[in-house]
Amino acid sequence: MKVLVTGGAGYIGSHTVAELQKQNIEVVVFDNLICGHKEAVTCPLIVGDLLKKDEIKKVFKENKFDGVIHFAAYALAGESMKEPAKYFENNLQGGLNLLEAMREGEVNKIVFSSTCAIYGYPDKLPVIEEESKKPVSVYGESKLMFETILRWYDQLFGIKNVCLRYFNASGDSLDGSIGEDHKPETHIIPIAMQAALGQREKFSIFGEDYNTPDGTCIRDYIHVLDLASAHIKALDYLSKEGESNYFNVGTGQGYSNKEILNMVKEVTGVDFPVEVGPRREGDPDAIFADSSKAKTVLGWEPKHSDLKTIIESAWKWHKSHPKGYSS
Ligand SMILES: NC(=O)c1ccc[n+]([C@@H]2O[C@H](COP(=O)([O-])OP(=O)(O)OC[C@H]3O[C@@H](n4cnc5c(N)ncnc54)[C@H](O)[C@@H]3O)[C@@H](O)[C@H]2O)c1
Repeated sequence: MKVLVTGGAGYIGSHTVAELQKQNIEVVVFDNLICGHKEAVTCPLIVGDLLKKDEIKKVFKENKFDGVIHFAAYALAGESMKEPAKYFENNLQGGLNLLEAMREGEVNKIVFSSTCAIYGYPDKLPVIEEESKKPVSVYGESKLMFETILRWYDQLFGIKNVCLRYFNASGDSLDGSIGEDHKPETHIIPIAMQAALGQREKFSIFGEDYNTPDGTCIRDYIHVLDLASAHIKALDYLSKEGESNYFNVGTGQGYSNKEILNMVKEVTGVDFPVEVGPRREGDPDAIFADSSKAKTVLGWEPKHSDLKTIIESAWKWHKSHPKGYSS
């Protein structure tokens, strides 16, 4: 099996590539390296931009793929509210160029990185796939719109898709060889790591007046290796002629910001200062997944997502790469 991974130089993409290779699946990465790192890529890398139709079409002319995993996108909800065109263009036009190149190359299987951000403020917890979709950011909206586009490309051209709606990707490779390196960093665990490393004076929590037991937001943290295995299961499902489908990928267990910070302090042994700042716009009190559909249909099960393993793997990566890949 030969798979094209768009965005494979990024955080989740690079971990997924490494896991695909362990399964002896041949992988080619297509990435413009705008947010990705060539050092993270352990397979052939084509540096190219999905917004340039000819660049992605050429890849399909020169290779025969059995399927595509599509990670490439902009993924910062806050930034998407300031620069909506940037997000709609990259996440939609970039994806459309990919789908057209797949049509020309007669490739009819795609696994897509969707997100729990399509649900907005959920009505019920844990969130099931049929929850109403009311994104509260342009980013979440762009992902929901691309799910719709995929539905039409199945109906019109028979391109089968699996949309994986990730909850909070977290943790890093267990051997510390690859890891999360976002600039700017917006995720709680790597920011807490920076505080533990002394790169920040303090950690600032966005509000403690949420409707949760300790007042801080609750999220569902899924280890990046468990996300990677969900992609492998999704590819397997599509290769067995599975119909297009969508799945939540989370643990079902929510942790508050304070619980995360306490675990970071315990694992790192560093008691960094924590201050409480104002709320951030667009944050629901709590969100965690019902992933029973992925378990039943894909046979997927998280194996590395207990909080301690997540934080220990993150600490291993950040301690050995205090400046990310440029360390
Ligand atoms: N990190 C999370 O918690 C999370 C949660 C839900 C969904 N997602 C989705 O998962 C995917 C991967 O997330 P990530 O955290 O690894 O992000 P990332 O920024 O680390 O990786 C995205 C990669 O795509 C590349 N890219 C972006 N636009 C491109 C283009 N036009 N052409 C070619 N390459 C392009 C970037 O250079 C980068 O390497 C994204 O689609 C994101 O929306 C992430």
